[in-house]
Amino acid sequence: MKRLLLLFSVLLAAGARAGGPDYEAEIEALLARMTLAEKIGQMNQQHPDNPDLRAEIRAGRVGSVLSVVGARETNELQRIAVEQTRLGIPLINGRDVIHGFRTIFPIPLGQAASFDPELVEACARIAAREARAAGIHWTFAPMVDISHDPRWGRIAESCGEDPLLAERMGAAMVRGFQTSDLADPTAVAACVKHFAGYGAAEGGRDYNSTYIPERLFRNLYLRPFRAAVGAGAATLMTSFNANDGVPSSGSRFLLGEVLRDEWRFDGFVVSDWASVAEMVPHGFCADEKEAASRAVSAGLDMEMVSSTYVAHLEALVAEGAVSMAAIDDAVRNILRIKFRLGLFDNPYAPLDGEPAYAPDALRMARTAAAESAVLLKNDGRCLPLGSGIRTIAVTGPLADAPHDQLGTWVFDGEADRTQTPAAALRGRTGIRTIEDPLLACSRSELPADAAERVARLAEADVILFFAGEEAILSGEAHCLSTLSLQGGQERLAELLAATGKPVVTVVMAGRPLDIRPLLRHSAAVLYAFHPGTMGGPALADLLFGDAVPSGKLPVTFPVSVGQIPIYYNHNATGRPARGDEMLLPDIPLRASQTSLGNTSYYLDIGTKPLFPFGFGLSYTSFSYGEVRLSAGTIPIDGSVTVSATLTNTGDREATEVVQCYLCDVAASAARPVRELAGFRRVTLAPGECREVTFTLGPEELSFWNVDLRETVEPGEFRVGIGGDSTVPLEGRFFVIP
Ligand code: GLC
Repeated sequence: MKRLLLLFSVLLAAGARAGGPDYEAEIEALLARMTLAEKIGQMNQQHPDNPDLRAEIRAGRVGSVLSVVGARETNELQRIAVEQTRLGIPLINGRDVIHGFRTIFPIPLGQAASFDPELVEACARIAAREARAAGIHWTFAPMVDISHDPRWGRIAESCGEDPLLAERMGAAMVRGFQTSDLADPTAVAACVKHFAGYGAAEGGRDYNSTYIPERLFRNLYLRPFRAAVGAGAATLMTSFNANDGVPSSGSRFLLGEVLRDEWRFDGFVVSDWASVAEMVPHGFCADEKEAASRAVSAGLDMEMVSSTYVAHLEALVAEGAVSMAAIDDAVRNILRIKFRLGLFDNPYAPLDGEPAYAPDALRMARTAAAESAVLLKNDGRCLPLGSGIRTIAVTGPLADAPHDQLGTWVFDGEADRTQTPAAALRGRTGIRTIEDPLLACSRSELPADAAERVARLAEADVILFFAGEEAILSGEAHCLSTLSLQGGQERLAELLAATGKPVVTVVMAGRPLDIRPLLRHSAAVLYAFHPGTMGGPALADLLFGDAVPSGKLPVTFPVSVGQIPIYYNHNATGRPARGDEMLLPDIPLRASQTSLGNTSYYLDIGTKPLFPFGFGLSYTSFSYGEVRLSAGTIPIDGSVTVSATLTNTGDREATEVVQCYLCDVAASAARPVRELAGFRRVTLAPGECREVTFTLGPEELSFWNVDLRETVEPGEFRVGIGGDSTVPLEGRFFVIP
C-alpha cells in the first residue's frame, strides 16, 4: 500500500509542475533585489477601472492586470512596467476566456456533454491562440466546480456533476490553453477555479455557504482540481464560498495542506474578485488588515482587485504578524509563472497577431456545437428531417438570438458573428422557411395575436421551436428558484402542438430545465445548451442528418426543482427507494401509517429523474453485449479489465459514448451506488460491432476511507458498461487483501 501511495505522490509531483524549464536561479536573483514594497506589488492585481492604475504600475505596486484586451492596450501598460519601473518586471494580463475568446464555443456544460476531451482541448487551444494575439497571457479557466444543483447559475460554466468527467475536461482545457510549453507564443496560463467546493452552495444560491466534510471534499470536489494540477495548470483561483465557516481565500487546509504539501503545486494562486476583502463580511476577519494577514499566511499569492495586500502587508511584516518568508514564497510562485510564460524575454504582444474567426476556429466551433447537443426524444424517428420536408416553420425566442445563443461568460465574443439557427435554416437549399419568433425573448408572454400567427406557422411541414433561456439567466449570481420555462414558452408549445403538425423543439439553456411541457408537446427534443457562435449551422446539420447526435447529459435532469439535489452518484441510504413505490394518486384513503414501505422517495414525484446522467439518444440504435471481466479476484494493487461488445444495430453511422460504472459494494465509509469509472466515444457503421475495454486499477478503485487515507479496500465491486448511468451493474469482482 505504501508503494501505491508513493507512486501516486511521485506521479502527482511530476505532474504538478506547471511545466517548462526551471528559473529558480533567476527568481532568487530577482527576489534578492526586490524591496518589500516591490514584492507586495507583484501580489497585487488591478482592474483598468482603477483611476491610478498607471501610476500604481509605475510605482511598482501592480504585478498583474485583468480585463485589458488588445495588443496595443496591453503593450501600453506593459511598457510602463517593463521600461518605467526600477526592476522592469512584466505584468501578467488575465481575462475570463471561459469558452472562447472571439470564436465562442458551447458553454462548458455543453462541451462536457460531448464527453470528448480531445475536442475540448482543441477548443481551448483556439481560444488561447485568439486571446494571446489580443495581449492576454492568462485565462481564468477551466472552471471545474462540481454541482448537483441546476438552480445555481454557474452550473453553466461547470463540467457537470461527475468528478471523472470534470477531471478529463478540466485537464483537457489546461492542455489546450497552455500547450506543453507555457513559453509558446500562442499559450495562455490556465487558472483552475474556483478552489474549492463552490458548487455546493446551499440552496443553489451563488456565494452561499458550503458544508463539505473532508472525505467528501477529497472524494468528489477536489478531484478535478487535482487532475488539472496534475495536467500542469499554472495557477488556481480561490472560491467565494466559506466551507464550514472558513472562506477559501483564508483556508490553510486548501492552500497549504492540500495544494502545496500534498499536490506539490508550484504555480500561484489568485483570489477571486475582492474575495480577500470579503472575508470581513463573511465574519471571518474583523477588518481588511486581518484579511490580508490571514490570506497571505494561508498561502494566497495574489489579490484580485481589492487592495488589502498593498494597504497592509508592509505594516504586518513590520509587526511580525506576517513573515517575510510568506511574502517571498508568494512572489516566487508569481515570478515562476511569469518566467515560464516567457514574459521577461517577450513582454509585448505582436501588433499583427493572428486574426480571430479563422476557418479552422469556426469549423471547430461547429463540430463542438454538434457534439454538445443531446437528443432527448425522437418519437417516430421524426429526426433527422426527411427529404420530403419542403417548408419548415422556425419559431421561438432562441431561433434568431445571436447574443443569447453565445451563453454566459462571453466578454469578447461578438454577437454579430453568431450564426443563428434561423439564419442557417433560411439558407438551406430546397427549404422554404416561415419565420416568426412569437416571443421576443425567453421571458416574453404570448402576444394577443398568437393564434393567428401560429396558424401561419402551421402551413409548414414541420415546426421547429427554439426554446430555453436567455444568456443572462445563467452564470455568476444568476440563480433561479424554479427550473420551469420562463414567459409564454410552455403555452406556445401547447399551441404549436395543437396545430397537428410535428413539432421539433431545440432547447438552448445554461442549466437543466423542467422541460416536461416541451416533451409532452414535441415529437423530438434536442438539448443544445448555449451552443456558441456556430450553433446555427451545427443545429441545422443535426436536424437534417448531416451530423448525428452523440451528446450525453453531463448532469442529471430533475423532474422538478423539488427533487434537488438529485445526482446519479449518490449514496444508497439504509432505505433506498425500490423504484416501484406507490405515488400520490394511487395511495388509498386512510392508508395505514407504514403501508407505503418507508423508503427514501417523494410521494408526489418519486426519485427517478426526468433524464439520468449520461443519457442521450442517437439516430441509430446501439446494443451492448454482456460484461466480461479478466478476473474474478484481484490483489489490492491489482487491475481488472472489463469489456463489452457494442453493436450499431441501426442504419446510420453514429458515435456512442460508452460508459463504465463501478460500485464499491461495502467500504469503511459508504460509497456511491455507482460512479463513472471510464468513458469512450466509439464510432460504428451500421451493423458494425466492437469490443470496448476499460481497465480498473488503483486509480479507479481507491477512495479516501474512514481514516482519511487514500486507499483500495478489499471487498466486492460491481461493474457495468452501457449508454447511460442506469446500466445494470452485472459484472462482479473481488479485491482480496
Ligand atoms: C468573477 C468570477 C470569476 C472570474 C473573476 C474575474 O467574480 O467569480 O470566475 O474569473 O471574477 O472576472
